[in-house]
Amino acid sequence: MTRVRDAWRTAWAWLDERLGLAAVGALAKKKDVPIHRHTIWYYLGGMTLFLFIVQLSTGALLLIYYRPSAEEAYESVQFLMAEVQFGWLVRSIHAWAANLMIFTLFLHLFSVLLLRSYAKPRELTWMSGMALLGLAMTFGFTGYLLPWNELAYFATRVGTQIIGVVPVVGEFLLRVLRGGDDVTGATLTRFYAIHVALLPATTLVLVGLHLYLVQRHGMSVPPSVQRASGPKRAMPFFPNFLLRDLVGWLTALAILAALAAYLPAELGTKADPFVSAPAGIKPEWYFMFMFQTLKYLPAHILFFEGEAVGIMAFGLAAVFLLVVPFVDRRTARGRPSPLFTAIGVAIIAYMLVLTYLGYTANPTK
Ligand code: HEM
Repeated sequence: MTRVRDAWRTAWAWLDERLGLAAVGALAKKKDVPIHRHTIWYYLGGMTLFLFIVQLSTGALLLIYYRPSAEEAYESVQFLMAEVQFGWLVRSIHAWAANLMIFTLFLHLFSVLLLRSYAKPRELTWMSGMALLGLAMTFGFTGYLLPWNELAYFATRVGTQIIGVVPVVGEFLLRVLRGGDDVTGATLTRFYAIHVALLPATTLVLVGLHLYLVQRHGMSVPPSVQRASGPKRAMPFFPNFLLRDLVGWLTALAILAALAAYLPAELGTKADPFVSAPAGIKPEWYFMFMFQTLKYLPAHILFFEGEAVGIMAFGLAAVFLLVVPFVDRRTARGRPSPLFTAIGVAIIAYMLVLTYLGYTANPTK
């Protein structure tokens, strides 16, 4: 036993001399996490990070068999599902973890919004987070097409068509994304490049920045807790908080395995551009609130197409959210800002109601 311990010490000393591990250890020892009635929300960022790592690992495995062309994509996924040992499991976990990651991302965003964690000096943490949300949704949009099945094909046609109605840049964006006038094999290779190279690289850089900022500023204490009297408590990040994180991650893994086993990812039929679009084409659930909103808009609003007005409104809402830390002056001055709680709650309610309507109203349209 002592020999093992000695060997471990020697290895540690060797690595420490070269990598400066003691400094990292000292940093981990210094970091702590505030304890109060909202501490539970601090786990969501770590959960999102865990699911992102699951996506990177399962995505890398899928790449071994996937072939990015209109002729072979569908068949390569079919082969993976039917012939490759545990291929179905890896693909199903990738599909489920993508959905869970976007779900935890939204929860993380809204908890951070309602707890005012974006306040000075965390403006850039918030803004890098908003960019990460955009990247995650683009991951979902581009990944959806890759199996080249009927549903994905027509959903991508509708999705890119919607982007095409944006005034001035829409037409250009549509052609860049599609690689031509219609959704073809050229679109597939573009989406593939975006999904497996461009997005992972950009996301990794931004996650790095986000985590650096979290590390630099420490965890924020919500203003309402700060204003309350009473002792301020905290727990060490290492090992107390990290071990709790670990319990959450293992639970998430168990949930993912169960979902993948009982509800494996489907493949459907191969895309055929020459058949007419099947009824009830629907986007992924996280686009549903926008999709349904566009359906309710009239064909024309003043001089613009109704859909264009809708998309610009969503664009403006995203810009507003991006600059929230600068607009919310009351929080910046340490005062209560109920208006921003109301705005946050209104956005959540809007998204929930429109998503619900998207799945229940006119189910065949
Ligand atoms: C891939 C996406 C993301 C990852 C991996 C991630 C990860 C994390 C982690 C690990 C933390 C520290 C623990 C916590 O507070 O939960 C954190 C904090 C934070 N995140 Fe994110 N995050 C992501 C997206 C977002 C989004 C979409 C927003 C909001 C627009 C955001 C805003 C923040 C802020 C303001 C903090 C500081 C919280 C505080 O100090 O209390 N993040 N993030």
